[in-house]
Amino acid sequence: MCGIVGYTGPRQAYPVILKGLKRLEYRGYDSSGVALMNGGKLKVFKKKGKVAELEELLIGKDVEANIGIGHTRWATHGEPSDRNAHPHSSASGRLAIIHNGIIENYAQIKKELLNKGYTFTSDTDTEVLLNFIEDIQKNNNNGSLEEALRIALKRVSGAYCILLVDQNDPHTIIAARKGSPLVIGIGKGEHFLASDASPIIEYTKEVVYVNDYELAIVKPDELILKNIGNETITPYITKLDMELAAIEKGGYDHFMIKEIFEQPSTIYDCLRGRLDAAAGTITMSGVEENIEQLKNASRIMIIACGTSWHAGLVAEYIIEELCRIPVEVEYASEFRYRNPIVNKGDVIIAISQSGETADTLVALEKAKENGAFIFGIVNAVGSSIARISHAGAYTHAGPEIGVASTKAFTGQLTVLSMMALKIAKEKGSISNERYLGLLNELQDIPEKVESILKNAEDIRKIAEHYKDASDFLFLGRGYNFPVALEGALKLKEISYIHAEGYPAAEMKHGPIALVDETLPVVFIATKDLYHEKIVSNMQEIKARKGKIISIITEGDDVTPGLSDHYFEIPPADELIAPILTVIPLQLLSYYVGTAKGIDVDKPRNLAKSVTVE
Ligand code: M6R
Repeated sequence: MCGIVGYTGPRQAYPVILKGLKRLEYRGYDSSGVALMNGGKLKVFKKKGKVAELEELLIGKDVEANIGIGHTRWATHGEPSDRNAHPHSSASGRLAIIHNGIIENYAQIKKELLNKGYTFTSDTDTEVLLNFIEDIQKNNNNGSLEEALRIALKRVSGAYCILLVDQNDPHTIIAARKGSPLVIGIGKGEHFLASDASPIIEYTKEVVYVNDYELAIVKPDELILKNIGNETITPYITKLDMELAAIEKGGYDHFMIKEIFEQPSTIYDCLRGRLDAAAGTITMSGVEENIEQLKNASRIMIIACGTSWHAGLVAEYIIEELCRIPVEVEYASEFRYRNPIVNKGDVIIAISQSGETADTLVALEKAKENGAFIFGIVNAVGSSIARISHAGAYTHAGPEIGVASTKAFTGQLTVLSMMALKIAKEKGSISNERYLGLLNELQDIPEKVESILKNAEDIRKIAEHYKDASDFLFLGRGYNFPVALEGALKLKEISYIHAEGYPAAEMKHGPIALVDETLPVVFIATKDLYHEKIVSNMQEIKARKGKIISIITEGDDVTPGLSDHYFEIPPADELIAPILTVIPLQLLSYYVGTAKGIDVDKPRNLAKSVTVE
């Protein structure tokens, strides 16, 4: 959470930082601020609310500067307010800091500083860290800021990516990272710093991903990278494989709907170069290079959060069915704090869109320490989870900016399906006929998604009808049970309507008590092994006057009669049907959210990338 941007070079820093903050706003939007330095004079501006409010505040102000840092906040310590907004200034006013992460032992440090007479203007852990650094520097015979920072960071626990500027060094930004991402863009006589590459891409494609426990001393024409032990490291420069258009709305009202409509091409991109149905092959180097370990695994653990966890649940069904390997799906946040049994050689699949989710990252580090083999399924190229994995496969969905995960989910399901098919084929646990049949089914998915999206207007009308409901129930069975969970999550986060997802048969064990004539119940009732069973569940809801919205297979002549509203999708093998059934649910949440006037790209209290636990 929180987005950070920095610039040092010949350009005006403020426009670069402002544009960068708008691109990073998906990471948090409780408040924003900038610290700009001109001729060694530091000016700090900050404001509660979205970046647009900061922009408004700065109209007509003197924002002249060639160096600056900016922050967009997702509040952890201290309510969203002007005074808790970053940047924070040190007691002397000489230093300014922005921070993404949490300093867990800040209370102890604050106590020490209070005893020394320090006072604080905010409730944040960040202001404590800054004064701690300044205090160390003062007690260190006013030694270098870099040295003081290093000493401070050895004392703090928690996660951080910080950028620091100092009036006494008017062209330098000092950065440090542990657990929160930092990318440095290398221009000609200028450097850009940001939480991800989106603020950088329009200026340079050459970037350095800073690793944990590294410090960067960044001047317009010099980048020095060191570890926390003060050893110099040669920066590893990589080329960004991203176009500017990928991070712009391209004529859509919101990123969320743009990303929903991108799915035919993102799924195609995910399959491209990997799946060749005519030749009957799947090429995935990460799987091929580790096939012995994967196919002989006595069990597979999947670790993820949120929507990625739902993809993991679908994968559990697919892998167990095709590969006959037991699968356990774990919430990363639970896994990291219990005492899980992980042995050397155990296979762990990590799923993450951002590749930066703190809980997932720490859970993987823990499993890795125990000798597990980590296979990462990640969307953000070069992200932390991608880098700590032993092997993996990118989902190739392109930057996902809307807070609600959509195209990343279908990308994850596509990768997981191919991976399971590949392992099953190598293991001999699938017949050739079924294998080839599923390859063909997967190949046809982009076209089927396209045909669903052509009827998006039908979902908009359904959304209009139910937008004032106070609760929703989502029910599915088998492969579509996790899709029910995903539909409920999507609706909650985008429309603020309470929703629950359940296995349809489980409804009788409690949730059916909720059903009355006001409750919309969304059934994922496609033609599969469970069809007759789910029809019975629909009857049970109908008998209790619940309102039924169903997602059904084209040509099904039973379910329309039981539904108040229904939406048809093309037929598909049940194993990969979730890639299709989730699309109308994504649209439903989008249209309900927008009908209620919610800023669906930035719903309240959320952030795209959850980099704090
Ligand atoms: O980046 P990740 O896939 O690791 O993120 C996991 C969750 O935070 C994420 O899926 C979240 O639940 C989304 N807001 C769901 O739309």
